[in-house]
Amino acid sequence: MPQVGTFPVTRDEIAGLPVSELAARYGTPVYVYDAAKIRERVADLQRFDHIRYAQKACSNLAILDLVRREKVLVDAVSAGEVHRALAAGYSLHGNPPPVVYTADIFDRESLELVVQRDIHVNAGSIDMIDQLGTRAPGRSVTLRINPGFGHGHSQKTNTGGEQSKHGIWHAELDECLRQIDRHGMAVSGIHMHIGSGTDLEHLGQVCGALEATVAKIGRTVTSISAGGGLPVPYHARQSYVDLEEYYRLWNATRERLQEELGHKISLEIEPGRYLVAESGFLITEIRAVKRQGGNTFYLLDAGFNNLARPILYGAYHPMSIANATGRPLQSVVVGGPLCESGDIFTQEEGGFVCQRSLPSAGVGDLLILECAGAYGFVMASNYNSKPLAAEVLICDGQAYLARARQTNEDLVRGESIPG
Ligand code: LLP
Repeated sequence: MPQVGTFPVTRDEIAGLPVSELAARYGTPVYVYDAAKIRERVADLQRFDHIRYAQKACSNLAILDLVRREKVLVDAVSAGEVHRALAAGYSLHGNPPPVVYTADIFDRESLELVVQRDIHVNAGSIDMIDQLGTRAPGRSVTLRINPGFGHGHSQKTNTGGEQSKHGIWHAELDECLRQIDRHGMAVSGIHMHIGSGTDLEHLGQVCGALEATVAKIGRTVTSISAGGGLPVPYHARQSYVDLEEYYRLWNATRERLQEELGHKISLEIEPGRYLVAESGFLITEIRAVKRQGGNTFYLLDAGFNNLARPILYGAYHPMSIANATGRPLQSVVVGGPLCESGDIFTQEEGGFVCQRSLPSAGVGDLLILECAGAYGFVMASNYNSKPLAAEVLICDGQAYLARARQTNEDLVRGESIPG
């Protein structure tokens, strides 16, 4: 199991390449991913029968291709994510299904796609079962069950309990099975995902809830999924989940179910953050240093248009300054370029601005927002008409432009003026 990382406040290189060269070559802001780190994280989870990547965390085709080559399956939450998986070389059919559509609704496009291409569905609502069963009776599906409890790093990432819209409510299981029967369908697996960035205590509780659900459904079940949710440390105070213990809990559950049902049950895990968070770095340039009363602000060329986690969840990201070894530390507030006061990377949930101890720096210095690989680029926007940043993958010491920076033409593509 990986040990808790330390987070140095200066960084000269990423995956062996100088930060200054990456910035000069690709411009800033730029997302840089270290392929070796992703491979390392995939290797950590090899004891599970199948790893299914929750691509919502970072769905660049180069990343999908990388995990596909590591034999990682993929989850898709939209028609767009199915198309990404196909574009990255995944096939749709196999056992287990390489691509699974997991959601709480079908929009019309995704229902059509799932019906036409016979894509495996992990249903999060009874309406989904009814809609799929009406169009394509007789299919096998897996069910995403909301066990009535959940936990996440923020209330906004807790996906269990009655405050959450996710999954089929555990007490609705009988009604759900009636729909399944009505359409001649079968339940081949059960899935529970209680939240993102949770802990072993809560993750462990899922095992019991899942066992009780499978007991009700019975012999058609051949696979179980522990969902995602594995945390990564963003701060020296935080740690990883004990993966040995986590696997032990799930394997014991699987073994009890095998005993009860009398056949093999495959055990799947569905991480997003764990595989990619630590691989990602957002390189930015400091463009202004301001003193406002008691606060010194470093203002960057990246804002919440590039990395939204701090403004959305008060999320903490480690930060470093390139080539700043030996400089004195200074307490600063780090913000972006957007015309909005909330465009601050050093904030706590609720929008409270706080300070960070970083090497003293000036205009032209590069500031790196770290652990930004998960829910970073994918949650970016064009707010303030800022182009989406470039994405670069470093593989075996070579940098590869995995997505070009948007242009100003891209920003107005599809828009027109009447008349
Ligand atoms: N499976 C399902 C059904 C999910 O809904 C999610 C995440 C995952 C797996 C992967 O969870 P992970 O292993 O990454 O924790 N934007 C938030 C996180 C939202 C997570 C949404 N669902 C953040 O930046 O923290």
